[in-house]
Amino acid sequence: MTWRIQRRNFLQVLALGATQSLVGRHCRAGDVNSKLRVASIGTGNKGRDDLLQVAASPLAEIVAICDVDDSLNHLGGAAEKFPRAMRFADYRLLLDKPDAFDAVIVSTPDHMHAPIALAALELKKHVFCQKPLAHTVDEARKMRLASERNGLVTQMGNQIQSHRFYRTAVRMIHDGAIGKVREVHSWQSGAMGWLLVDARPADADQIPKSLHWDLWLGVAPQRPYNDRLYHPFNWRAWQDFSSGQLGDFGCHILDPVFLSLDLNAPISVQADAPPLNQEVWARQCTVKYEFPGNTRTLGDVLSVTWYDGAGCHPDRAALGLPDSYEMPGAGSVLVGESGTLVIPHVGEPRLFPEDKFRDYAMPVMEDVNHYSGWVDACLGNGTTTSHFGYAGPLTEAVLLGAVAVRLPQEKLLWDTSAAKFTNHSAANGYLTKAYRSGW
Ligand SMILES: NC(=O)c1ccc[n+]([C@@H]2O[C@H](COP(=O)([O-])OP(=O)(O)OC[C@H]3O[C@@H](n4cnc5c(N)ncnc54)[C@H](O)[C@@H]3O)[C@@H](O)[C@H]2O)c1
Repeated sequence: MTWRIQRRNFLQVLALGATQSLVGRHCRAGDVNSKLRVASIGTGNKGRDDLLQVAASPLAEIVAICDVDDSLNHLGGAAEKFPRAMRFADYRLLLDKPDAFDAVIVSTPDHMHAPIALAALELKKHVFCQKPLAHTVDEARKMRLASERNGLVTQMGNQIQSHRFYRTAVRMIHDGAIGKVREVHSWQSGAMGWLLVDARPADADQIPKSLHWDLWLGVAPQRPYNDRLYHPFNWRAWQDFSSGQLGDFGCHILDPVFLSLDLNAPISVQADAPPLNQEVWARQCTVKYEFPGNTRTLGDVLSVTWYDGAGCHPDRAALGLPDSYEMPGAGSVLVGESGTLVIPHVGEPRLFPEDKFRDYAMPVMEDVNHYSGWVDACLGNGTTTSHFGYAGPLTEAVLLGAVAVRLPQEKLLWDTSAAKFTNHSAANGYLTKAYRSGW
Protein backbone atom coordinates (compact mmCIF):
# COMPACT_ATOMS: atom_id res chain seq x y z
CA MET A 1 0.00 0.00 0.00
CA THR A 2 1.32 3.45 -0.84
CA TRP A 3 1.32 6.70 1.12
CA ARG A 4 -1.27 8.06 -1.35
CA ILE A 5 -3.74 5.27 -0.52
CA GLN A 6 -2.78 5.60 3.09
CA ARG A 7 -4.02 9.21 3.25
CA ARG A 8 -7.60 7.94 3.73
CA ASN A 9 -6.60 5.73 6.66
CA PHE A 10 -4.67 8.56 8.24
CA LEU A 11 -7.72 10.81 8.05
CA GLN A 12 -9.74 8.03 9.68
CA VAL A 13 -7.22 7.97 12.51
CA LEU A 14 -7.63 11.71 12.92
CA ALA A 15 -11.39 11.38 12.86
CA LEU A 16 -11.19 8.86 15.67
CA GLY A 17 -9.52 11.47 17.78
CA ALA A 18 -6.11 9.81 17.86
CA THR A 19 -4.46 13.05 16.83
CA GLN A 20 -0.85 14.02 17.22
CA SER A 21 0.57 17.48 17.55
CA LEU A 22 3.07 18.52 14.93
CA VAL A 23 4.35 21.25 17.22
CA GLY A 24 4.38 19.43 20.56
CA ARG A 25 6.74 20.40 23.35
CA HIS A 26 10.28 19.20 23.18
CA CYS A 27 10.72 17.04 26.21
CA ARG A 28 12.54 14.04 27.62
CA ALA A 29 11.33 10.48 27.67
CA GLY A 30 10.38 9.42 31.18
CA ASP A 31 8.51 12.65 31.87
CA VAL A 32 4.89 11.54 32.08
CA ASN A 33 3.66 15.03 31.18
CA SER A 34 5.61 15.07 27.94
CA LYS A 35 5.14 13.72 24.47
CA LEU A 36 7.58 11.17 23.17
CA ARG A 37 9.58 12.70 20.32
CA VAL A 38 9.88 9.98 17.72
CA ALA A 39 12.17 9.65 14.71
CA SER A 40 11.06 7.18 12.05
CA ILE A 41 13.66 5.41 9.90
CA GLY A 42 12.29 3.57 6.85
CA THR A 43 8.97 5.18 5.98
CA GLY A 44 7.63 3.14 3.06
CA ASN A 45 5.41 0.05 3.18
CA LYS A 46 5.61 -1.48 6.68
CA GLY A 47 7.46 1.61 7.87
CA ARG A 48 4.49 3.75 6.85
CA ASP A 49 2.21 1.55 8.90
CA ASP A 50 4.55 1.65 11.90
CA LEU A 51 4.85 5.41 11.64
CA LEU A 52 1.11 6.01 11.47
CA GLN A 53 0.38 3.53 14.25
CA VAL A 54 2.85 5.25 16.57
CA ALA A 55 1.69 8.70 15.48
CA ALA A 56 -1.86 7.67 16.34
CA SER A 57 -0.88 7.81 20.00
CA PRO A 58 -1.77 11.21 21.42
CA LEU A 59 1.46 10.95 23.41
CA ALA A 60 3.75 10.68 20.37
CA GLU A 61 5.15 13.49 18.25
CA ILE A 62 6.88 12.64 14.99
CA VAL A 63 9.87 14.97 14.90
CA ALA A 64 12.02 13.34 12.21
CA ILE A 65 11.62 11.03 9.24
CA CYS A 66 14.39 9.25 7.37
CA ASP A 67 14.33 7.22 4.17
CA VAL A 68 16.82 6.49 1.41
CA ASP A 69 14.11 6.96 -1.22
CA ASP A 70 12.73 10.51 -1.62
CA SER A 71 9.74 9.46 -3.74
CA LEU A 72 6.09 9.71 -2.70
CA ASN A 73 5.81 6.05 -1.71
CA HIS A 74 8.61 6.55 0.77
CA LEU A 75 10.01 9.74 2.32
CA GLY A 76 7.94 12.04 0.11
CA GLY A 77 4.66 10.59 1.32
CA ALA A 78 5.75 10.71 4.94
CA ALA A 79 6.84 14.33 4.49
CA GLU A 80 3.36 15.22 3.20
CA LYS A 81 1.82 13.79 6.35
CA PHE A 82 4.40 15.18 8.76
CA PRO A 83 5.50 18.44 7.11
CA ARG A 84 7.19 19.78 10.23
CA ALA A 85 9.32 16.70 10.81
CA MET A 86 13.01 16.98 9.94
CA ARG A 87 13.88 14.90 6.87
CA PHE A 88 16.93 12.74 6.29
CA ALA A 89 18.18 10.25 3.72
CA ASP A 90 21.09 9.06 5.88
CA TYR A 91 20.17 7.82 9.37
CA ARG A 92 23.66 8.74 10.59
CA LEU A 93 22.89 12.43 10.07
CA LEU A 94 19.65 12.02 12.00
CA LEU A 95 21.48 10.30 14.86
CA ASP A 96 23.91 13.23 14.87
CA LYS A 97 21.06 15.26 16.42
CA PRO A 98 20.42 13.22 19.57
CA ASP A 99 18.91 16.13 21.46
CA ALA A 100 16.07 16.34 18.95
CA PHE A 101 14.39 12.99 19.66
CA ASP A 102 13.75 10.44 22.39
CA ALA A 103 12.95 7.30 20.45
CA VAL A 104 13.29 5.71 17.01
CA ILE A 105 11.27 3.38 14.85
CA VAL A 106 13.44 1.13 12.64
CA SER A 107 11.47 -0.24 9.68
CA THR A 108 14.16 -0.69 7.07
CA PRO A 109 15.04 -3.97 5.34
CA ASP A 110 16.50 -6.46 7.81
CA HIS A 111 20.21 -5.96 7.05
CA MET A 112 20.05 -2.40 8.42
CA HIS A 113 18.06 -3.05 11.61
CA ALA A 114 21.04 -3.68 13.87
CA PRO A 115 23.40 -0.96 12.61
CA ILE A 116 20.67 1.64 13.10
CA ALA A 117 19.12 0.26 16.28
CA LEU A 118 22.44 -0.36 18.01
CA ALA A 119 23.59 3.19 17.27
CA ALA A 120 20.30 4.53 18.65
CA LEU A 121 20.51 2.33 21.76
CA GLU A 122 24.02 3.59 22.45
CA LEU A 123 22.61 7.14 22.26
CA LYS A 124 20.14 6.00 24.95
CA LYS A 125 17.12 6.21 22.66
CA HIS A 126 14.13 3.92 23.03
CA VAL A 127 13.67 1.66 20.02
CA PHE A 128 10.78 0.07 18.16
CA CYS A 129 12.38 -2.28 15.62
CA GLN A 130 10.78 -4.44 12.99
CA LYS A 131 11.15 -8.20 13.04
CA PRO A 132 13.46 -10.04 12.88
CA LEU A 133 15.47 -7.79 15.16
CA ALA A 134 18.65 -8.40 13.23
CA HIS A 135 20.36 -10.11 10.34
CA THR A 136 22.87 -12.10 12.41
CA VAL A 137 22.76 -13.84 15.77
CA ASP A 138 25.64 -11.68 16.97
CA GLU A 139 23.70 -8.49 16.14
CA ALA A 140 20.59 -9.74 17.92
CA ARG A 141 22.63 -10.59 21.02
CA LYS A 142 24.25 -7.14 21.00
CA MET A 143 20.86 -5.43 20.67
CA ARG A 144 19.50 -7.22 23.71
CA LEU A 145 22.59 -6.46 25.76
CA ALA A 146 22.67 -2.78 24.71
CA SER A 147 18.99 -2.28 25.53
CA GLU A 148 19.44 -3.88 28.94
CA ARG A 149 22.69 -2.06 29.70
CA ASN A 150 21.14 1.31 28.87
CA GLY A 151 17.79 0.58 30.54
CA LEU A 152 15.76 1.41 27.45
CA VAL A 153 12.21 0.63 26.39
CA THR A 154 12.15 -1.59 23.33
CA GLN A 155 9.60 -3.42 21.25
CA MET A 156 9.95 -5.70 18.24
CA GLY A 157 7.37 -5.21 15.48
CA ASN A 158 5.77 -8.66 15.81
CA GLN A 159 2.47 -6.91 16.40
CA ILE A 160 0.38 -10.09 16.11
CA GLN A 161 1.63 -10.96 19.58
CA SER A 162 -0.81 -8.31 20.78
CA HIS A 163 -3.73 -9.64 18.72
CA ARG A 164 -6.41 -11.39 20.74
CA PHE A 165 -5.98 -14.64 18.74
CA TYR A 166 -2.32 -15.06 19.70
CA ARG A 167 -3.00 -13.83 23.23
CA THR A 168 -5.81 -16.37 23.55
CA ALA A 169 -3.58 -19.23 22.39
CA VAL A 170 -0.89 -18.31 24.93
CA ARG A 171 -3.48 -18.14 27.71
CA MET A 172 -4.90 -21.54 26.73
CA ILE A 173 -1.49 -23.20 27.04
CA HIS A 174 -0.82 -21.40 30.32
CA ASP A 175 -4.22 -22.56 31.57
CA GLY A 176 -3.23 -26.15 30.77
CA ALA A 177 -5.86 -26.68 28.05
CA ILE A 178 -3.82 -29.50 26.46
CA GLY A 179 -1.56 -30.28 29.41
CA LYS A 180 2.19 -30.34 28.98
CA VAL A 181 3.36 -30.03 25.40
CA ARG A 182 5.17 -32.92 23.73
CA GLU A 183 6.10 -31.44 20.32
CA VAL A 184 5.47 -28.42 18.12
CA HIS A 185 5.15 -28.03 14.35
CA SER A 186 5.14 -24.56 12.78
CA TRP A 187 4.92 -23.65 9.14
CA GLN A 188 4.58 -20.98 6.47
CA SER A 189 3.46 -22.73 3.30
CA GLY A 190 3.04 -19.58 1.24
CA ALA A 191 4.97 -19.14 -1.98
CA MET A 192 7.90 -16.73 -1.81
CA GLY A 193 6.68 -14.15 -4.30
CA TRP A 194 9.84 -12.14 -3.82
CA LEU A 195 12.17 -14.94 -4.95
CA LEU A 196 12.31 -13.98 -8.63
CA VAL A 197 15.72 -15.27 -9.75
CA ASP A 198 18.32 -17.74 -8.52
CA ALA A 199 21.42 -15.74 -9.38
CA ARG A 200 22.55 -12.14 -9.53
CA PRO A 201 22.00 -10.61 -12.98
CA ALA A 202 25.13 -9.61 -14.86
CA ASP A 203 23.78 -6.24 -15.99
CA ALA A 204 22.71 -3.20 -13.98
CA ASP A 205 19.75 -0.83 -14.23
CA GLN A 206 19.87 2.93 -13.92
CA ILE A 207 19.45 4.05 -10.32
CA PRO A 208 16.31 6.21 -9.98
CA LYS A 209 17.02 9.83 -9.11
CA SER A 210 14.93 9.49 -5.97
CA LEU A 211 16.95 6.57 -4.56
CA HIS A 212 20.22 6.75 -2.61
CA TRP A 213 21.34 3.26 -3.59
CA ASP A 214 24.60 3.36 -1.62
CA LEU A 215 22.66 4.26 1.53
CA TRP A 216 20.13 1.50 0.79
CA LEU A 217 22.99 -1.02 0.62
CA GLY A 218 24.36 0.35 3.88
CA VAL A 219 26.53 -2.24 5.61
CA ALA A 220 25.92 -4.86 2.88
CA PRO A 221 28.51 -5.55 0.18
CA GLN A 222 28.36 -3.32 -2.88
CA ARG A 223 26.30 -4.65 -5.80
CA PRO A 224 24.83 -3.05 -8.93
CA TYR A 225 21.30 -1.69 -8.73
CA ASN A 226 18.47 -3.68 -10.30
CA ASP A 227 15.05 -2.11 -10.58
CA ARG A 228 12.94 -5.11 -9.54
CA LEU A 229 15.08 -7.46 -7.45
CA TYR A 230 15.81 -5.49 -4.28
CA HIS A 231 14.04 -2.25 -3.46
CA PRO A 232 11.31 -2.29 -2.34
CA PHE A 233 10.26 -5.59 -0.75
CA ASN A 234 12.09 -8.14 -2.93
CA TRP A 235 15.33 -7.86 -0.90
CA ARG A 236 13.80 -10.76 1.09
CA ALA A 237 15.18 -13.22 -1.49
CA TRP A 238 18.83 -12.38 -0.87
CA GLN A 239 21.17 -13.67 1.81
CA ASP A 240 22.93 -10.29 1.99
CA PHE A 241 19.76 -8.54 3.15
CA SER A 242 17.41 -11.06 4.76
CA SER A 243 17.08 -14.46 6.40
CA GLY A 244 14.55 -15.87 3.94
CA GLN A 245 10.99 -16.84 4.73
CA LEU A 246 12.00 -18.19 8.15
CA GLY A 247 13.43 -14.74 8.90
CA ASP A 248 10.33 -13.08 7.51
CA PHE A 249 7.74 -15.10 9.42
CA GLY A 250 9.56 -16.96 12.20
CA CYS A 251 9.31 -14.08 14.68
CA HIS A 252 5.55 -14.02 14.11
CA ILE A 253 4.63 -17.69 13.93
CA LEU A 254 7.05 -18.97 16.56
CA ASP A 255 6.13 -16.12 18.90
CA PRO A 256 3.08 -17.72 20.59
CA VAL A 257 5.09 -20.96 20.82
CA PHE A 258 7.91 -19.14 22.62
CA LEU A 259 5.57 -17.15 24.85
CA SER A 260 3.28 -20.01 25.80
CA LEU A 261 6.09 -22.50 26.46
CA ASP A 262 8.62 -20.08 27.98
CA LEU A 263 11.21 -21.00 25.36
CA ASN A 264 14.55 -19.29 25.10
CA ALA A 265 17.62 -20.72 23.36
CA PRO A 266 17.56 -24.04 21.49
CA ILE A 267 20.19 -26.66 22.21
CA SER A 268 20.37 -27.89 18.62
CA VAL A 269 19.17 -27.00 15.16
CA GLN A 270 19.21 -29.05 11.96
CA ALA A 271 17.87 -28.20 8.51
CA ASP A 272 16.69 -30.29 5.63
CA ALA A 273 17.18 -28.04 2.61
CA PRO A 274 18.69 -28.14 -0.86
CA PRO A 275 22.27 -26.88 -1.17
CA LEU A 276 22.29 -23.07 -1.27
CA ASN A 277 24.18 -20.87 -3.64
CA GLN A 278 25.79 -17.78 -2.08
CA GLU A 279 22.98 -15.48 -3.18
CA VAL A 280 19.35 -16.41 -2.53
CA TRP A 281 17.49 -18.44 0.08
CA ALA A 282 15.95 -21.88 -0.44
CA ARG A 283 12.42 -22.15 -1.82
CA GLN A 284 11.62 -24.96 0.57
CA CYS A 285 13.20 -26.21 3.77
CA THR A 286 12.52 -27.83 7.11
CA VAL A 287 14.31 -26.79 10.29
CA LYS A 288 14.23 -28.99 13.37
CA TYR A 289 14.98 -27.34 16.71
CA GLU A 290 15.48 -28.99 20.07
CA PHE A 291 14.81 -26.89 23.18
CA PRO A 292 15.50 -27.88 26.76
CA GLY A 293 12.36 -29.19 28.41
CA ASN A 294 10.72 -27.16 31.17
CA THR A 295 7.65 -27.23 33.37
CA ARG A 296 5.35 -26.59 30.40
CA THR A 297 6.76 -29.43 28.27
CA LEU A 298 6.99 -33.21 28.41
CA GLY A 299 10.41 -34.81 28.63
CA ASP A 300 13.93 -33.44 28.67
CA VAL A 301 13.80 -32.07 25.15
CA LEU A 302 11.06 -30.30 23.20
CA SER A 303 11.10 -30.75 19.44
CA VAL A 304 9.95 -27.75 17.36
CA THR A 305 9.90 -28.26 13.60
CA TRP A 306 9.60 -25.39 11.09
CA TYR A 307 8.28 -26.11 7.56
CA ASP A 308 8.96 -23.44 4.98
CA GLY A 309 7.80 -22.83 1.41
CA ALA A 310 4.95 -23.58 -0.97
CA GLY A 311 3.22 -26.81 -0.01
CA CYS A 312 5.33 -27.33 3.12
CA HIS A 313 3.39 -28.13 6.27
CA PRO A 314 3.21 -30.93 8.82
CA ASP A 315 1.32 -34.12 8.03
CA ARG A 316 -2.21 -33.57 9.31
CA ALA A 317 -2.98 -37.27 9.63
CA ALA A 318 0.18 -37.93 11.67
CA LEU A 319 -0.96 -35.21 14.07
CA GLY A 320 -4.39 -36.79 14.39
CA LEU A 321 -6.20 -33.79 12.90
CA PRO A 322 -9.45 -34.67 11.11
CA ASP A 323 -9.73 -34.67 7.31
CA SER A 324 -12.55 -32.17 7.62
CA TYR A 325 -10.20 -29.58 9.12
CA GLU A 326 -8.51 -27.42 6.51
CA MET A 327 -5.02 -26.67 7.75
CA PRO A 328 -4.23 -22.96 7.76
CA GLY A 329 -1.61 -21.76 5.27
CA ALA A 330 0.62 -20.79 8.17
CA GLY A 331 0.59 -21.45 11.88
CA SER A 332 1.57 -23.87 14.61
CA VAL A 333 0.35 -27.15 16.05
CA LEU A 334 1.16 -27.86 19.68
CA VAL A 335 0.71 -31.50 20.61
CA GLY A 336 0.02 -31.87 24.31
CA GLU A 337 -0.54 -34.76 26.71
CA SER A 338 -4.32 -34.23 26.68
CA GLY A 339 -5.06 -32.60 23.33
CA THR A 340 -3.77 -30.65 20.35
CA LEU A 341 -3.89 -26.89 19.81
CA VAL A 342 -3.71 -25.35 16.34
CA ILE A 343 -2.70 -21.68 16.26
CA PRO A 344 -3.46 -20.32 12.78
CA HIS A 345 -1.48 -17.31 11.59
CA VAL A 346 -3.68 -15.24 12.12
CA GLY A 347 -6.89 -16.92 13.28
CA GLU A 348 -8.80 -18.25 16.22
CA PRO A 349 -7.01 -21.12 17.99
CA ARG A 350 -8.64 -24.56 17.64
CA LEU A 351 -8.57 -27.52 20.01
CA PHE A 352 -8.63 -31.19 18.95
CA PRO A 353 -10.14 -33.75 19.29
CA GLU A 354 -13.20 -31.59 18.73
CA ASP A 355 -15.54 -33.91 20.67
CA LYS A 356 -13.35 -33.76 23.75
CA PHE A 357 -13.26 -29.97 23.76
CA ARG A 358 -16.86 -29.33 22.67
CA ASP A 359 -17.71 -27.67 25.99
CA TYR A 360 -14.36 -25.94 26.47
CA ALA A 361 -14.80 -22.30 27.47
CA MET A 362 -12.33 -20.35 25.37
CA PRO A 363 -10.65 -17.59 27.43
CA VAL A 364 -11.74 -14.13 26.36
CA MET A 365 -8.73 -11.97 25.55
CA GLU A 366 -8.69 -8.43 24.18
CA ASP A 367 -6.40 -6.91 21.57
CA VAL A 368 -3.59 -4.80 22.99
CA ASN A 369 -2.09 -1.87 21.09
CA HIS A 370 1.46 -2.97 20.28
CA TYR A 371 2.46 0.56 19.22
CA SER A 372 0.87 2.91 21.74
CA GLY A 373 1.94 0.43 24.42
CA TRP A 374 5.55 1.12 23.41
CA VAL A 375 4.95 4.89 23.45
CA ASP A 376 3.33 4.66 26.88
CA ALA A 377 6.16 2.51 28.24
CA CYS A 378 8.77 4.95 26.89
CA LEU A 379 6.99 7.64 28.90
CA GLY A 380 7.14 5.51 32.02
CA ASN A 381 3.68 3.99 31.88
CA GLY A 382 3.56 0.18 31.71
CA THR A 383 5.87 -2.24 29.96
CA THR A 384 6.25 -3.73 26.50
CA THR A 385 5.80 -7.45 25.85
CA SER A 386 8.18 -7.89 22.91
CA HIS A 387 11.07 -6.02 24.49
CA PHE A 388 14.51 -7.09 23.32
CA GLY A 389 14.97 -9.25 26.42
CA TYR A 390 12.28 -11.46 24.89
CA ALA A 391 12.58 -10.62 21.18
CA GLY A 392 16.37 -11.01 21.21
CA PRO A 393 16.34 -14.73 22.07
CA LEU A 394 13.36 -15.31 19.74
CA THR A 395 15.25 -13.64 16.90
CA GLU A 396 18.41 -15.56 17.76
CA ALA A 397 16.52 -18.85 17.48
CA VAL A 398 15.04 -17.84 14.12
CA LEU A 399 18.47 -16.80 12.80
CA LEU A 400 20.09 -20.00 14.11
CA GLY A 401 17.59 -21.79 11.87
CA ALA A 402 18.81 -19.70 8.93
CA VAL A 403 22.40 -20.73 9.74
CA ALA A 404 21.28 -24.37 9.65
CA VAL A 405 19.66 -23.82 6.24
CA ARG A 406 23.10 -22.76 4.97
CA LEU A 407 24.51 -26.11 6.20
CA PRO A 408 21.82 -28.66 5.32
CA GLN A 409 21.66 -31.95 7.25
CA GLU A 410 24.25 -30.87 9.83
CA LYS A 411 23.03 -31.13 13.41
CA LEU A 412 24.41 -27.98 15.01
CA LEU A 413 24.79 -27.97 18.79
CA TRP A 414 24.22 -24.51 20.31
CA ASP A 415 25.73 -23.21 23.54
CA THR A 416 23.85 -20.00 24.21
CA SER A 417 25.95 -18.83 27.14
CA ALA A 418 29.09 -19.04 24.98
CA ALA A 419 27.08 -17.78 21.95
CA LYS A 420 28.59 -20.41 19.67
CA PHE A 421 28.07 -23.83 18.16
CA THR A 422 30.16 -26.42 19.95
CA ASN A 423 30.61 -28.81 17.02
CA HIS A 424 30.90 -26.79 13.82
CA SER A 425 33.37 -23.99 13.15
CA ALA A 426 31.91 -23.18 9.71
CA ALA A 427 28.51 -22.62 11.32
CA ASN A 428 30.11 -20.23 13.81
CA GLY A 429 31.29 -18.20 10.84
CA TYR A 430 27.66 -17.45 9.98
CA LEU A 431 26.86 -15.96 13.40
CA THR A 432 28.31 -12.63 12.39
CA LYS A 433 29.27 -10.82 9.21
CA ALA A 434 31.69 -8.15 7.99
CA TYR A 435 30.24 -4.67 7.44
CA ARG A 436 31.18 -2.84 4.25
CA SER A 437 34.21 -0.64 4.55
CA GLY A 438 33.20 2.80 5.80
CA TRP A 439 30.17 1.53 7.74
N1 LIG B 1 5.46 -6.88 11.33
C1 LIG B 1 4.97 -7.16 10.14
O1 LIG B 1 3.86 -7.68 9.99
C2 LIG B 1 5.81 -6.82 8.94
C3 LIG B 1 5.23 -6.81 7.66
C4 LIG B 1 6.04 -6.44 6.58
C5 LIG B 1 7.38 -6.11 6.79
N2 LIG B 1 7.89 -6.15 8.04
C6 LIG B 1 9.30 -5.78 8.29
O2 LIG B 1 9.42 -4.38 8.04
C7 LIG B 1 10.69 -4.12 7.49
C8 LIG B 1 10.50 -3.43 6.15
O3 LIG B 1 9.85 -4.31 5.28
P1 LIG B 1 9.09 -3.75 3.99
O4 LIG B 1 8.38 -4.91 3.38
O5 LIG B 1 8.31 -2.55 4.35
O6 LIG B 1 10.36 -3.33 3.09
P2 LIG B 1 10.37 -2.28 1.89
O7 LIG B 1 11.63 -2.50 1.15
O8 LIG B 1 9.09 -2.38 1.14
O9 LIG B 1 10.40 -0.86 2.62
C9 LIG B 1 11.52 -0.46 3.38
C10 LIG B 1 11.51 1.04 3.52
O10 LIG B 1 12.73 1.42 4.16
C11 LIG B 1 13.44 2.35 3.33
N3 LIG B 1 14.87 2.12 3.56
C12 LIG B 1 15.64 1.12 3.06
N4 LIG B 1 16.89 1.23 3.57
C13 LIG B 1 16.89 2.30 4.40
C14 LIG B 1 17.88 2.91 5.21
N5 LIG B 1 19.13 2.44 5.29
N6 LIG B 1 17.54 4.02 5.91
C15 LIG B 1 16.28 4.52 5.85
N7 LIG B 1 15.30 3.98 5.08
C16 LIG B 1 15.60 2.87 4.39
C17 LIG B 1 12.97 2.04 1.93
O11 LIG B 1 13.18 3.12 1.03
C18 LIG B 1 11.49 1.77 2.17
O12 LIG B 1 10.78 2.98 2.30
C19 LIG B 1 11.40 -5.45 7.39
O13 LIG B 1 12.21 -5.64 8.50
C20 LIG B 1 10.29 -6.46 7.39
O14 LIG B 1 10.68 -7.70 7.91
C21 LIG B 1 7.13 -6.49 9.11
